[in-house]
Amino acid sequence: MDFSEIAREYDRRAVVQASAGERLLELLEIRDSEDVLDLGCGTGTLTMKIREKTSGRVLGVDAEEGMILEARKKYGTRGVFFESISAEEIAFHEEFDVIFCNSVFQWFQEPQKVLSRCYIALKKGGRIGVQAPARRVYCPNFIKAIEEVRRDSNIGETFRHFRQPWFFLETEEEYRELFEIAGFRVLHSEIEEVTTKHTPEEVFRIFDSGASAGYLNQRYYDVKIDESYIQRFRQIVMESFQNQAGPSGKVNLVFNRLFLVAKKL
Ligand SMILES: C[S@@+](CC[C@H](N)C(=O)[O-])C[C@H]1O[C@@H](n2cnc3c(N)ncnc32)[C@H](O)[C@@H]1O
Repeated sequence: MDFSEIAREYDRRAVVQASAGERLLELLEIRDSEDVLDLGCGTGTLTMKIREKTSGRVLGVDAEEGMILEARKKYGTRGVFFESISAEEIAFHEEFDVIFCNSVFQWFQEPQKVLSRCYIALKKGGRIGVQAPARRVYCPNFIKAIEEVRRDSNIGETFRHFRQPWFFLETEEEYRELFEIAGFRVLHSEIEEVTTKHTPEEVFRIFDSGASAGYLNQRYYDVKIDESYIQRFRQIVMESFQNQAGPSGKVNLVFNRLFLVAKKL
């Protein structure tokens, strides 16, 4: 399962990314007529929120063709542009006032290269804003469910062949340093523990809006995973979320989230 397969259902499932993204938008204070790049735009919902804030150029880019096709289908005629490019390959030169990067940074295989390219893409004085899950225990609820997968007598052995694709740092200082190495001055950096309440089914949909594209993606295994593996994996995760629900039937879903804004001097 990858993001192209998730694309059609993404908006219904991605409630936590959307609310954290709104907060990032506020932190960035996008002004009228600023040119904005939405890096890893997904299906374009937040790109449209950016459109509402500026009359400047708004471009969304994403590595997955399926996400870009969905974004174009929904918003392609509404004054925003979408292109299928991975963040490691962007080649803009002092074209944007703002780079908005929501729930994507953890996916970068070469974060330092991406940040260097972002630096070049920004005009002098431009800002970059990043919101992303942070820390090895980025979501204790997901980690607990994954531990149960690891212990399962049917699929635990295959799961040992999974190589996590995500990039997480433990402290805001470590993230800050990464941006400073690329030449940025960090204006705001915090890792916040964000808790929201959901039914187990909603938590499962949230899991399916991002984490599944890692845990259930053949690309990150060095052995073949088949449909029965995927089905069993999903069943264990769902049961774990059901067991995590309190007396109200809701799960306290916790994410450690980085909010960082930096400036090109
Ligand atoms: C959880 S979604 C977030 C989408 C959107 N920014 C939002 O907040 O709803 C993560 C997105 O990152 C994209 N992505 C992952 N790695 C990428 C890369 N190296 N370059 C560009 N996009 C990437 C995925 O295709 C996916 O659309």
